[in-house]
This record gives sequence, structure tokens and C-alpha cells, in this order.
Amino acid sequence: MSDEFEKAYHREKAARLEAEKLLEDSSRELYFKNRELEAANENLKRNQQQLVQQEKMASVGFLASGIAHEINNPLGYSLSNMTVLKEYADDLAVMMKALDTATDLDTVRDTIVDDNIQHILADLPDLLAESIHGLESVKQIVSDLRAFARSGEDSAATANLNEILQTTLNVLKGQIKHRYPVETHLGVLPPVTCMAGKLSQVFANIIINATQAMPDGGKVYIETRADGDHVIVEISDDGPGIPEAHLTEVFSPFFTTKPVGEGTGLGLAICYAIITEDHRGSLSVTNGAGRGVGANFKITIPLC
Ligand SMILES: Nc1ncnc2c1ncn2[C@@H]1O[C@H](COP(=O)(O)OP(=O)(O)OP(=O)(O)O)[C@@H](O)[C@H]1O
Ligand SMILES: [Mg+2]
Repeated sequence: MSDEFEKAYHREKAARLEAEKLLEDSSRELYFKNRELEAANENLKRNQQQLVQQEKMASVGFLASGIAHEINNPLGYSLSNMTVLKEYADDLAVMMKALDTATDLDTVRDTIVDDNIQHILADLPDLLAESIHGLESVKQIVSDLRAFARSGEDSAATANLNEILQTTLNVLKGQIKHRYPVETHLGVLPPVTCMAGKLSQVFANIIINATQAMPDGGKVYIETRADGDHVIVEISDDGPGIPEAHLTEVFSPFFTTKPVGEGTGLGLAICYAIITEDHRGSLSVTNGAGRGVGANFKITIPLC
């Protein structure tokens, strides 16, 4: 009996050791698998951040030529005014010298009439005002662009969505103004706590999508209104709208109907994350429900 018992004991011990070893092996395996997964996850996160950054750079790239054009015009006339102002300054210097050496009042008068000082004096205020206006336009464009490009390092502050929309439209102007008139219906909005740069990126993405949906041109409609403890922004267009089957997919990362190289399909996925995660709001799309007959994107942001 004790022999039997001893055998049974050893059998059980061997089985237990075997089981322990197996457990140890599989937990070691699990441990390494887990580390692999963690590394893969980190990698994915890094890639995602890179893609988000690339997407932003792509939209800045898209805007660049329009912005260059927008800046070029006021800069061009301000610069040419400066050339004229320099000539006037030279003329005035010569005149001053002549006056300095003049011995009688008639010579002084002649000098002034000959050198057309009246014309210079009449022209100066206009030239200066125009130049100041041109340089202020450039300053405005650069500051709008900076607000737009800052979206990555954005922090929350109180802002008016109408103003953010206006800044965004200023940045986009060069790219869309000729073929895509924008009809705005901006209601009176209370200020909201938001990340202005990121919201600007959202508005720009949706507006650019709208223009891309209308290759032959068409109107973009923007409407804002306050509704209880939310503010609402609707952006619609006169394009073909989004096919019923795609309505739930357009916010998925990498969903695109554009040819390879033209769209990454990240635009709306990033917009969705910015609205729902960074602002605890909502972003949805329907067809024909806005002022335009095409797609209508509705953004809702809570007041606080
Ligand atoms: N206003 C719109 N009208 C019709 N279809 C649209 C509109 N906006 C978006 N879409 C559809 O949603 C898809 C996804 O849009 P999203 O902005 O995410 O990516 P994309 O524009 O294709 O590429 P990317 O923005 O990265 O350049 C588009 O490919 C298009 O099929
Ligand atoms: Mg897009």
C-alpha cells in the first residue's frame, strides 16, 4: 500500500513539475509576446503621429501657392511705392539744397514750381496709405497662416468660432476664391473654450474636401449658430454628395475615393479626432441637409 502511495505521490509530483514548467514556459512566452506587442503599439503610435504631421504639411503645401500669390500682390505694390517714395525723397533733398543756396524769394518759388513739389506733396499721403495697407495685408496673411500652422502645439483658450472661420477663409482665399465662392451665414456666437489652430485645420480640411468634390467649381456654404449649450458649424457644398454606403466610412482613417497620391484618406479621420476627443463635440455628415445640395458636415462644440 505504501508502495502504491509512494508511486502515486511521485506520479503526481512529476505531473505537477511538468505543469509548473509548462506554465513557466507559457508565461515566459506570454511575457515576450506582450513586450513585442507593446513595441508594435509604440511603433504604430509613432507612425500615426508622423502621418498626422504629414497630413498637416500636405495641407500647408496645398495652400502654399495660393498664399504666395496672396502675399505677392500687396508686397508688389508696396515695393513699387517704395521706389517712387525714394525718388521723391531724392527730389526733395535736391530741392532743399537749392533752397539752401537761394538768395531771394523768387528763386525759392521757381525751385518749388520747377521741381513740382506740389505734385510730390499731393501724392505722398496716397502712396504711404497704400503701402501701409499692403504691408498690413501681408502681416494679416502671415498671422493667419501662423495660427493655422500652429495646430500641432495648440492649447485651449476662449475664442469665437466665427473669427476662426474667417482666419481659415483668409488662409484658403488664394486657393479657392476664383472657382469656389463661399457663402457665409454667421450667427452671433458666444465664445467657446477651444484649440483655435486645430479647429482651423478641421474647417480647412472640410472646405478643401468640398472644393475637391466640385472639380468644375461651385459654391461652399458656411453657417454658424448657437443652440443651447452648444455652437454649431455647418459646411456644405453643391457637389454630388457622399454615396449612402460611404457615409459611415468617410471618418475612418485611410478611407479615400481619390486616386493614389492625391488623398491619404486621413483628413476627416483627423477632423473627427480633433472634434470628438480634443473638444468633446460631434462631427457628422449628411447629404442635402445643409444650404448646398451636396455633402453637409455638421460640427457641434459644447460651450465649456
Ligand atoms: N464634400 C464632400 N463631397 C463628397 N465626398 C466627400 C466630401 N468630403 C469628403 N468626401 C469623401 O470622403 C473621403 C475621405 O475624405 P478625407 O478628407 O478623409 O480623405 P481624402 O480627402 O480622400 O484625402 P486627404 O484628405 O488625406 O487628402 C473622400 O475621399 C471623399 O470620397
Ligand atoms: Mg480630405
